Amino acid sequence: MIKIAMTKGRIQNQSMTLLKKAGYDILPILSMGRALQVKTADDFEFIFGKANDVVTFLEHGIVDVGFVGKDTLEDNDFKDYYELADLKIGNCCFALAAPPAYRKKEFQARKRIASKYPKVTKKYFETQKEDVEIIKLEGSVELGPVVGLSDAIVDLVETGNTLAANGLEIIARISEVSTRLIVNKSSFKFKEKEILEMVRRLNDVK
Ligand code: PRP
Ligand code: MG
Repeated sequence: MIKIAMTKGRIQNQSMTLLKKAGYDILPILSMGRALQVKTADDFEFIFGKANDVVTFLEHGIVDVGFVGKDTLEDNDFKDYYELADLKIGNCCFALAAPPAYRKKEFQARKRIASKYPKVTKKYFETQKEDVEIIKLEGSVELGPVVGLSDAIVDLVETGNTLAANGLEIIARISEVSTRLIVNKSSFKFKEKEILEMVRRLNDVK
C-alpha cells in the first residue's frame, strides 16, 4: 500500500490525467464527492489537502508520497524528503510584478512587497541586496498594488492573464515552478520498489 497526499485543485486535476495515462485506477477518486480519503484498485490510498498540509502529512509520516508544487516546497521549512520526479504539470514561474511605474519610481522608504510566499520573497531580495518590507497575503495577491497595500508582488505567473487584468507587469522572473513528487525518507526505505515503480510509470507518460 502506498499512501499519497495530493494537493487539491489544479494539481489534483492534472495529476488525475497523468495517473490515468499511466494506467492507474482513478475511478474511485472521480466519484468520491466531498470525501477526502479514498482507496483505489492499485493499492493506493489518497488523501486530498491544501499544499502546505501535503508537506505536513509527509513530514509526520502519515503519507509516503506527496504531489505538491515547487512553490510550496520552496516556501516550506521542511526539507527532509526526497524529490523523485518533476511531473511537468502545473508549470508556471515565480515573478516579481508591479505596475509599469515601479521601474522608474525613486523609492524614499523600503519597498513593500505583498506575497503568499514570504520566504521566497525574502530570499529573492537578499540576492538583490535589497531590504524590503514583506506583507503576507493568502491569495489574490495582485490586489496588493491595486489597492495601495504594496509597491509590488511576488507571485506565480502562468498565462499572465491575472497580471494583465490588474494592470501589472513582470519586473523580474525569479524561478520556474512545477509539480513535484516527493517521498518520505523512511517510507522510501521500506517501500522503495513500489515507489520507484510508480515514479517510472509516471515518468513514462508525462
Ligand atoms: C494563481 C496565482 C496567480 C494566477 C496566475 O492564483 O497566484 O494569481 O494564478 O495565473 P495566470 O498567470 O494564468 O493568470 P489562483 O487563481 O490560484 O488564486 P489565489 O492567488 O487566490 O490562490
Ligand atoms: Mg493568485
